[in-house]
Amino acid sequence: MCGIVGFVGKQSAAPILLKGLKQLEYRGYDSAGIAVMDADGIRVEKVSGRIARLCEKTENGAAVPGSIGIGHTRWATHGAPTDVNAHPHLSNDGRFAIVHNGIIENYLALREELISDGYVFQSETDTETIVHLLEKYYDGDIKAAVMKTAARLEGSYALGILCADAPDTLYAVREASPLILGIGVGENYFASDVTALVAHTKNVIYLEDGEIAALTPGSIEVYDCTGQRLQKPISRVTWSVEAAEKGGYEHFMLKEIMEQPAAVKAALAPRLHEGEIRLDDFELSEETLRSVSKIVITACGSAYYAGCSGRYAIEKLCHIPVQVELASELRYGEPMVDEHTLVLVISQSGETADTIAALKECRAHGATIIGIVNVVGSTIAKLADHTLYTWAGPEIAVATTKGFTTQLAILYLFALYVGKKLGRVEQAQYAALLRSLKLLPKRLQETIDMNYQIPALAGRYASQSLFFIGRNTDYAVALEGALKMKEISYLHAESYAAGELKHGTIALIDEGQPVIAVCCNEALCDKTLSNIVEVKARGAKVLALAFRGNKKIVSQADDVIFIPQIETVFSAALAVVPLQLLAYYAAREKGCDIDKPKNLAKSVTVE
Ligand code: F6R
Repeated sequence: MCGIVGFVGKQSAAPILLKGLKQLEYRGYDSAGIAVMDADGIRVEKVSGRIARLCEKTENGAAVPGSIGIGHTRWATHGAPTDVNAHPHLSNDGRFAIVHNGIIENYLALREELISDGYVFQSETDTETIVHLLEKYYDGDIKAAVMKTAARLEGSYALGILCADAPDTLYAVREASPLILGIGVGENYFASDVTALVAHTKNVIYLEDGEIAALTPGSIEVYDCTGQRLQKPISRVTWSVEAAEKGGYEHFMLKEIMEQPAAVKAALAPRLHEGEIRLDDFELSEETLRSVSKIVITACGSAYYAGCSGRYAIEKLCHIPVQVELASELRYGEPMVDEHTLVLVISQSGETADTIAALKECRAHGATIIGIVNVVGSTIAKLADHTLYTWAGPEIAVATTKGFTTQLAILYLFALYVGKKLGRVEQAQYAALLRSLKLLPKRLQETIDMNYQIPALAGRYASQSLFFIGRNTDYAVALEGALKMKEISYLHAESYAAGELKHGTIALIDEGQPVIAVCCNEALCDKTLSNIVEVKARGAKVLALAFRGNKKIVSQADDVIFIPQIETVFSAALAVVPLQLLAYYAAREKGCDIDKPKNLAKSVTVE
């Protein structure tokens, strides 16, 4: 999704902006541009396609002099990904240049108004209305023009603004779209994502909704929407530059798959204390938990599938009914949520627009919200009553991997914590489950180590259409496995609860049809085995996924991927790993752009 960077200092701005934009490439984009200001005014350079083209066009920034500027990667929403629609956009008088993340919902009405005022539009974007509004409201006071403009906008926006009348000041404003200010020495920055800042500074200020910032080389001032000066806390980023780089791997996705043992350890270890689970800086008392009549989990995409998997763990260990809802559906439904509902909102980025809207909807119905979030200081982390960070570190590849497994780790921890508090998990079972959970990072490493044959299996099973089947927790893994395959290899993959095949889908099984059967739930293994037999009888080629030592599976499936033993309730965190690798190698074989799959964005900050 779109990315924003801004720089003001003494050095040449363009190379710094281009570098920052490259750090944001992973978010997905289809055009890019920069605006740099010097004594001659503001100069804009923008291209459709990759940042490499922008670097070429600007001679790596050397052709655009000036030490203050803004940059943008655009993921087209309003208007095609063309040079003209790319940001930055200029006002008619050339005084203002802006970059924008988000969507202006009332842009059509504003556009009509501005056209009748005589403003000429170059692009089809909603963004261009903003820059003309700035020109319209400007009477010599830039901050006042920004405030008046912001007051006219409906929707979401993070804006970076240059004004030719303020040659050493960058302006920024946010509403429902992230923007972070970076504090340097004799220079300052902003970006929509902390990964674009860590190479320069670890000291940041998180801008809140409705706030406006003015940055010069030596100062940062933040104001509320009425123009009152605010004192903002400075936060320290703990991510290193290396953590946001590839570290010798061919793709970020592979690096992040390999990082899962360490990431899950980082999620679990600080919360496990001598046989006890502690939930960071909050506690859910037995009394609070007894008043909970149900748990709603809401999220999008893989985070939703993590929720589907977490549901089994919570229902099994806590005996509380769990409803898992797609955030994009919940936000427009009639959610059966009240003050006795505990809502778990899961999001790697913490910025997914639908998930934020679902959170707000649940909050409006009186529910208590716990965020399960990776990105520190993100919108969901701030809106939730309590946040459990997944501590996965920066996830750069668009397709989530370590984000997903750390979400599962937190859900398991949560289920065990609540189950114990409510006395629904007995001490002996609790101790055994805790032991098993502690071993999860080690078992993840073994899973990775024992699956060296996956590249060869990917070659054999990747085909135009695949089926993924499983029951219970295995079904949640099948859902995530099929999504991974679709999104990075562009192969059609269907996931089915294994028992559903005979209700229609089995009609699609023909000679040679690949079926990936997840069979790690030992209690249901025989049931899934009979589904394997059914599809094989119709010619399917079956690749099964099972615990090491499962002899029955070996006798029925064409090929088997094994994972090490773990308590069934935690098995999804291991079982998903071979499926991530299968999708990765299938995509690699096809030569796909694995870290930046087509049409996708890392952080879906628009509806
Ligand atoms: C798939 C994937 C997406 C995200 C979804 C939610 O690999 O990454 O399906 O899981 O867009 O994103 P977050 O977790 O950032 O809310």
